[in-house]
Amino acid sequence: MNRVRQQDLGTPASASTETVQVVIDGMPATVKAGSSILRAARETGVDIPKLCATDNLKPFGSCRMCLVEVEGRKGYPASCTTPVEDGMQIRTQTGALSKLRRNVMELYISDHPLDCLTCSANGDCELQDMAGAVGLRDVRYGFDGENHLDGGVDASNPYFQFDASKCIVCSRCVRACDEVQGTFALTIQGRGFQSKVSAGIDEGFLGSECVSCGACVQACPTATLMEKSIVDHGQPDHSVVTTCAYCGVGCSFQVEMKGDQVVRMTPYKDGEANHGHSCVKGRFAWGYASHKDRVMHPMIRETTSDPWREVSWEEAIQYSAKRFKEIQAKYGRKSIGGITSSRCTNEEVYVVQKMIRTAFENNNVDTCARVCHSPTGYGLKTTLGTSAGTQPFDSVMDTDVMVVIGANPTVAHPVFASQMKKRLRQGAKLIVIDPREIGLVRSAHIAAEHHIALSPGTNVPIVNALAYVIVSEGLVDEAYVNERCDLDSFEAWKAMILQPANSPEVVAEVAGVDAETIRAAARLYGMANNASIYYGLGVTEHSQGSTMVMGMANLAMATGNIGRSGVGVNPLRGQNNVQGSCDMGSFPHELPGYRHISGDDVRAEFEKHWGVTLDAEPGFRIPNMFDAACAGEFMGMYIQGEDLAQSDPNTHHVEAALGNMECIVVQDLFLNETAKFAHVFLPGTSFLEKDGTFTNAERRINRVRPVMPAQQGKDEWQITQDLAQAMGYDMRYTTSSQIMDEIAELTPTFRNVSFKLLDDIGSVQWPCNAEAPEGTPIMHIEQFVRGKGLFVETDYVPTEEKTNRKFPLLLTTGRILSQYNVGAQTRRTENNIWHKEDLLEIHPHDAETRGVRDGELVSLASRKGDITLRAQITTRVKPGVVYTTFHNPETGANVVTTEYSDWATDCPEYKVTAVQITPASHRSSWQVEFAERAEQQGRVEEAS
Ligand code: SF4
Ligand code: SF4
Ligand code: SF4
Ligand code: FES
Repeated sequence: MNRVRQQDLGTPASASTETVQVVIDGMPATVKAGSSILRAARETGVDIPKLCATDNLKPFGSCRMCLVEVEGRKGYPASCTTPVEDGMQIRTQTGALSKLRRNVMELYISDHPLDCLTCSANGDCELQDMAGAVGLRDVRYGFDGENHLDGGVDASNPYFQFDASKCIVCSRCVRACDEVQGTFALTIQGRGFQSKVSAGIDEGFLGSECVSCGACVQACPTATLMEKSIVDHGQPDHSVVTTCAYCGVGCSFQVEMKGDQVVRMTPYKDGEANHGHSCVKGRFAWGYASHKDRVMHPMIRETTSDPWREVSWEEAIQYSAKRFKEIQAKYGRKSIGGITSSRCTNEEVYVVQKMIRTAFENNNVDTCARVCHSPTGYGLKTTLGTSAGTQPFDSVMDTDVMVVIGANPTVAHPVFASQMKKRLRQGAKLIVIDPREIGLVRSAHIAAEHHIALSPGTNVPIVNALAYVIVSEGLVDEAYVNERCDLDSFEAWKAMILQPANSPEVVAEVAGVDAETIRAAARLYGMANNASIYYGLGVTEHSQGSTMVMGMANLAMATGNIGRSGVGVNPLRGQNNVQGSCDMGSFPHELPGYRHISGDDVRAEFEKHWGVTLDAEPGFRIPNMFDAACAGEFMGMYIQGEDLAQSDPNTHHVEAALGNMECIVVQDLFLNETAKFAHVFLPGTSFLEKDGTFTNAERRINRVRPVMPAQQGKDEWQITQDLAQAMGYDMRYTTSSQIMDEIAELTPTFRNVSFKLLDDIGSVQWPCNAEAPEGTPIMHIEQFVRGKGLFVETDYVPTEEKTNRKFPLLLTTGRILSQYNVGAQTRRTENNIWHKEDLLEIHPHDAETRGVRDGELVSLASRKGDITLRAQITTRVKPGVVYTTFHNPETGANVVTTEYSDWATDCPEYKVTAVQITPASHRSSWQVEFAERAEQQGRVEEAS
C-alpha cells in the first residue's frame, strides 16, 4: 500500500556526475552540480514553497513563490531557476522572504474561489498547501474587484474538466503538453490580467488537438484541471502501484482508491518505461473492468444454439474436463489444444502452456503473437540470437537518426512516441517507412527528414535497397563487421545485396517511391553516429515478415548499430504482454525461454520438474488448428483471453473451424465474438485483480498488483490449475509468486527474477541471472547472444496477393489512438467519443474515379469476401492504397483479409489485401448475418 501523493522535487534532476558543497539554512550539504537551488534544498529535506515549478518540467520562474536569499547576491533570486554553485550559502526562511511569499500568495488567493472545503481538490491542492506554508491568514484586497471567478467550466473532455475560475495561470499545463506530451495543444492567450489557458484556438479540449493524455491534469497544482472521477467520488485514500494492461510500452501507474473503489489512475514517476507519463487508454480507459457486460459467473451449454446456463465453478471445470477427455478418447490425444493470451500475466500464461503439455499431453499451444510478432522472434533469434528487442526505451534519447518502419507510435505506443518526439525536438533525424503519412511524419515542431511511402508488400525491396546504398557507397562499418559478425554470411549477403535488382532505381519502380529518397535515407542512416530502428506490425504481418526482420538486423549489423545506447533493432509490441507470452513457452515448438521441444536435455529438465513425459513433437500453430478443425481432426480448444473470431484473418474460414469443434472453452471478461462458438465460458479477471507480472517491449518485467480480489471468485491461474487437475494432472500452486519461482528455476534468462526482487528494485529487463543480477537493459554489448552476428540473405519474393483489374487497390490496416486491438476493452469506455466506427481511408483521386463521397457507405470487396463501411477521403494514404482499422466487430475487417502468411512463422499477411471499393447503399451479407447472430446471442442471454 502506498501513499497517494507522489514526491515532487521541484525541477528535473541534473544529469551531472559532479557534486558541489552548499550551505542551506546553516546546514552543509553535498548536492549535484547543475541542480536548481529548489531541487537541491528539497533533496536535503528543506521544502521551499513553489507553484509554477514541478520536477518533470523545465523551470519557468513565473510565480515568485520560491524566492531565496543567497549570500553575496542582491535581491531574492527564484530558487527554481537558479543553479547551485560551490560554496553557495542559501537562506530559505527569513522574515523578508516570508513577507514576500505571503504577498504573492495573497494576490493569488484574492482571485480564487474560497470554496476549499467543497472543492474536489481539497487535500490535494498545491495552492492550498502553499497558502498554509506561507502562513496566509487573510486577504487585504477584498474579493470585489475585477477577477476571473466566473470563468466557466469546459467539461467537453469525457474524463477531465477545466474550471477557469481556479486557474492561477502558472503555465504548468501548457508546458506539460509541450515538453512531456509533445502535442502543443494549449497556449496562454492574452497578456497580464487577461491571460488565460486556451485549448487550441479557444476550441475547448474536445475540439482541440488534445489527445487526452492527462499530462496537463497531472501537472496542474490546483483544481482547475481535474479528473471527473475525482469530482464525482472525492479524493483517494490509498494507492497501489501496478502496470497498464493496454500496450507494450508497459507504463507504471498508481491505482488510487477510495475504500474499495478505484477513483483514478495516475502515471507513476518511478515507472522506468514511462517516467510519469501516460496516454488516454492507461490513464482514463479503465472503466471496462466494472462494465455491466462483464460476465461474473461460469456458464455452460451443450450446443451453441442452447442458452447459456450459469453454473458453479466446480461444474464448469468438471464439464470442460469431461468434454475434452471425450474428444481425446474419440479423436486422439492431439485433437485438443489451447491459446494463451498476451493480455494475461506471465504466470497465467505459463500455467496454460504447462496444462496443455502436461494434462492435455501434447504441444498444441499457440498464442496471439502468432498473428503479430512471431516473425520478430524468428528473425531476431536467427540473426542476433535473442527473440526480443535490443534496447530500453530510454536509449532513444541517445539516438541521432531513428527509422520508424511499419509502426505508428503516436497512436499505438503513445508514451514512447512522446519520448521519440522529445528526442526529435532536440535535433535527432527521422526516417519514416510507411505507406501512410503517420502522425510522426509531420506534427508540431517535428518533421521527418524522409518519408518513404512505399506500396504495401514492398518492405523487403526497400530494406535491400537501403543496404545496396550502404554497401555500394562504402558505408559498411568494416571493423565492427570483422570483429562481431560471421564473415561468410556477410560476404554472401553482400553479394546478394549488390545485385542490380536491389538498386534504388529498380526498387523505386517496384515500391512506387523515389530512388533519390531511398539513397538519401540510406546515407542518413549509414552515416549517423547512432542510428536506431523501431518497427511494428507493418513489418511483421506480411508474407515476408521474417525476411524483413532479418533485413533490418542485417542493416543494423552492417553499420555497427547494435550493442550500445542509441542504436538497435526494436519491435514495438502491440499488446501489454506479447513479449511475456512468447517468453513463457506459448509456442508449439518451444518451452519457456525459447528452448526447442525437440531438445532431449531441455525436455528432461522440464519432465523432471513437472513429473510427466513430454511429447517431443511440436504441436499445431493456430492456422494448423483451424485447418485440422475443418478436417474434423482438431475438435476442442481452450482459449485464454483472445478473440480469434474477430482478430484472425479470413473470418469465414475461422468461423467454419470454430463452428466445427465439439468443445470450445473461452476464458475472458466479456462474451466476445469467439464466445458465440463456445460451450463453456469461464469468466476472467481484469488487471485490477491480477497478481503477477507483464513483460513489455523492452523485455522489462513489471509487477502487476491487485487492488481488489478476483471479482468473479477465482484468480485466472487457479481456474487453469483446477482444469489441469480435473484433466488428471496434479498442479498445486497456492500463490502466483510460486509460479514465478518455477519460471525462474526453469528459464535461464529469468533465473534471478522473483516478486521480491521486483518489489525491491522496481522492474528488471531480462536476461536477469547470475551474470546480470539486476537485468540487462542493452543486449549484445560485447558480442551477440548467438556468438557472431549472422547475416541472412533477403531475396524479395513478392506476395501471392496481387492487384488486378477486379481488385486494383491495396488495403492495409492499423489502429487509432483511443481504441485498442479488437476494442473489447476500449469500446466499453468513454473512448468511443473519439471513434464510433471503423472508417475506410481513401485518396481523393481513387474516391473521385469511383464516385465515392466522404462519409458515405462503400463496399470493400476482396477475393475472400466483402463488407461495407464509411469512407473518409484523405491524402494520408497515397493513390492505390486504402486503409482501415479493425476495432469494431460489426465492421468485419478480417472478412476480407486473406490466408497468406509469413513463410517462416505463419503470421498472417494482414497488411496486404487486393480490394475494390464501390459506393454502397446497404450493409454486406456478412454484416447482416453478424447482426442477426448478435441479436440471437442477445436473446439467448436474456433467456438464460
Ligand atoms: S490550468 Fe492549472 S496548470 Fe494550467 S495554468 Fe491554470 S493552474 Fe496552472
Ligand atoms: S490532455 Fe495531454 S494532449 Fe490534452 S491538453 Fe493535456 S497535455 Fe495536452
Ligand atoms: S502508452 Fe501503452 S502502456 Fe502506456 S498508458 Fe498508454 S496504453 Fe498504457
Ligand atoms: S516555483 Fe520558482 S518561480 Fe514559481
